[in-house]
Amino acid sequence: MILQRRNRILRQSVAIRSMVAETRLSPDDFIVPLFIDEGTGVKTEIASMPGYYRNSLDYTVAEVKELWSMGLKSVLLFIKCKDELKDNTGKEAWNAGGLMQRSIKAIKDAVPEMLVMTDVALDPYSSYGHDGIVENGQIVNDPTVEALVKMSISHAAAGADFVAPSDMMDGRIGAIRKGLESEGFTNTGIMSYSAKYASCFYGPFRDALDSAPGFGDKKTYQMDYANRTEAVKETLMDIEEGADIVMVKPALSYLDIIRDVKNSVSVPVSAYNISGEYAMIKAAAKMGWINEDKAILETLTSIRRAGADLIATYFAKDAVRLIG
Ligand code: PBG
Repeated sequence: MILQRRNRILRQSVAIRSMVAETRLSPDDFIVPLFIDEGTGVKTEIASMPGYYRNSLDYTVAEVKELWSMGLKSVLLFIKCKDELKDNTGKEAWNAGGLMQRSIKAIKDAVPEMLVMTDVALDPYSSYGHDGIVENGQIVNDPTVEALVKMSISHAAAGADFVAPSDMMDGRIGAIRKGLESEGFTNTGIMSYSAKYASCFYGPFRDALDSAPGFGDKKTYQMDYANRTEAVKETLMDIEEGADIVMVKPALSYLDIIRDVKNSVSVPVSAYNISGEYAMIKAAAKMGWINEDKAILETLTSIRRAGADLIATYFAKDAVRLIG
C-alpha cells in the first residue's frame, strides 16, 4: 500500500505518545476528600470504600502533611456527626466549636498553604439524612438556605479557603456570597456543586458518614440524570450568583455534562469522581477482573479530557504515585 496518511506514526513509541498526548494529569489538579471522625487515634476503614478511611483529627492532620509533601494542594472536608448532635435544623453545622470548625483550624495551623475546602450541606447533621430542613415530608428551600449561609460563615470564620455547597437548594450561592461579604469574608471562595445529579453512586459515601436519607430520596433537589441542558442552566445561574469554581457530580456517567459545562463557562470546572466510582474500580480489581492502576489513570484522564480542570477523587494519592 502507498498511504498518504499513517496515523500510527504518532503512536509507535512511549516517547512520541507522551509528546503528543493532549491530556495530562498533575497533582495540581486533584482535590482530596477527607472523612473526619471525633476522638483521637481513630482510623476506620469504610467497608464499601476499601483502602479509604475515616480518621480522627490527629490522623487527619498527619495525612494532610503527607498529602502536601506529595504535591497535593487541596483537601475537601467532610465530618461524621455524632447521632446525638443531629436534629432537623442541622444547627451543629454552624457550631463554632464543632468538629468541622475545629478540623479547619487544626489543618490550617499545621499546613497553612493547603487549600481547605469544606462541604456545605445539612445531610451529615440532619436527623433525616436530607440536605435540607424537613417540614411535612418536604425539604424546604428557603429556611435551608438560611442555615447554609450560617454554616458557610462559620467555616470561613474557622479559616476555610473555599466553601463547597453540595445541597442543590435554589438561590444558595447568591445568599452565601452575600453572607460572606456582609461578614467581611471577602477572600473566601465558593466552589459550587452546580450540576449535582441524584445518583445511586453516592451509596458508599453515605456509609462513610452514616448520612443516608431516612425517608424518600434526593430527587426533589438533586438533578434528574435524564437531563443535560438543565446542567448548563444551573451552572450559569451559580456563576451569576457568585460561584468561583463550578462542579459536575458524579463524573463518569456525566462526561457529556462536563464537556457541555466546560464549553459554556469561563470559570474553572471541577468534577467529582465519587465514592461509587471508586468502589466499582476497587471491587473489580479485587476480583482480578481489571488492573486497578490502569483503571485509575484511564478514569482520571477521561474526566480531564471531558473538560474538568480539577478532579475531586479518592484516587489522588494513587494517581500521584502512578504519574510519578
Ligand atoms: C452531601 C454530599 C454527598 C456527596 C458529597 N457531598 C452525598 C449526597 O449528596 O448524598 C457524595 C460524594 C461521594 O459519593 O463520593 N450533600
